[in-house]
Amino acid sequence: MLVLGIETSCDETGIALFDTEHGLLSHALYSQIEMHSEYGGVVPELASRDHIRRVLPLIKETLNTARCQLHDLDAIAYTQGPGLAGALLVGASIGTALSFALKIPALGIHHLEGHLLSPLLSTPTPKFPFIALLVSGGHTQLMRVNAVGEYQLLGETVDDAAGEAFDKTAKLLGLGYPGGSALSKLALQGRSGRFKLPRPMLHSGDLNFSFSGLKTAVLTLINKHEMTPQTQADIALAFQEAVVEVLTEKSLAALSQSDLTQLVVAGGVGANSQLRQNLTSAANTRGATVFYPELEFCTDNGAMIAFAGAMRLQTTPPQTRQPASSFTVRARWNLETLEAIDI
Ligand code: KG4
Ligand code: ZN
Repeated sequence: MLVLGIETSCDETGIALFDTEHGLLSHALYSQIEMHSEYGGVVPELASRDHIRRVLPLIKETLNTARCQLHDLDAIAYTQGPGLAGALLVGASIGTALSFALKIPALGIHHLEGHLLSPLLSTPTPKFPFIALLVSGGHTQLMRVNAVGEYQLLGETVDDAAGEAFDKTAKLLGLGYPGGSALSKLALQGRSGRFKLPRPMLHSGDLNFSFSGLKTAVLTLINKHEMTPQTQADIALAFQEAVVEVLTEKSLAALSQSDLTQLVVAGGVGANSQLRQNLTSAANTRGATVFYPELEFCTDNGAMIAFAGAMRLQTTPPQTRQPASSFTVRARWNLETLEAIDI
């Protein structure tokens, strides 16, 4: 079965074609980052308008690359939430209209389910159950994943998400928006040990996180020191080391508390190379394995939505696979309320 995935929850228009027999056939992405960077963050109205401009050309491109046509599709999967309401409405309305016109089902996908399942697009794939560390611009959560749709929240951030902390700290260091990737590049020039920042909630005894205090600690350092390029890099590295240590320790604690040995990392911060190195070596010394999505599928993309849609389509009885005639989007949507499916 061939599924078209449409992702428009924030500032990336992602389109992909996933085939249940042959895997990912093609995918295309347009990032609005340049447009929003002028404003230091995502401007929701501009995001919606730009998705409108991009979705149809990207769908055409994705179909052409895979040498497929609209009438080859068996279903449309679109991100139904959570995210920016106006941006979500673009993908949802186009997905629903295509479903209605082509008389094929439309599936509203949870954006975070897409992220959680994205490591299953690569090989080797983790087997259920596993622990997932979801680290994006809007979320920092540790989940137990028992099956597709069966997610149990073990811990989450009580304030800023890890990606948000990277972005805010990058801004303090004058690195632009979103700064996670730029900060991690700058940290490569940093000298470890010059500055030591706090490890928030490292010993809290639970699996929750807190990152908002770190940017205040960074601001204090910036105010105290002359900002030479070397000092900037040293601060960037100290910040990254603090975040990476907390994420690593809590992920390992989640594995041992759940008696599991597979950890999946998803979301944009999962692209961070220091986090990857640290998690992999810490997990390996304890006999655990870490699975990552391909770098291009760490941040928002259409492939994870097409894949999650395909998983859900396979378990929908044929008689209930109806074209959509209406739709809603869910700007807020609790992942734990999803229906579990057996694949
Ligand atoms: O998953 P994602 O694309 O979007 C959300 O759903 O939020 O994640 C974007 C976040 C941004 O905060 C960005 O700064 C961060 O991921 N990010 C990184 C890196 N690449 C992207 N953070 C740290 N290191 C990176 N290499
Ligand atoms: Zn995301």
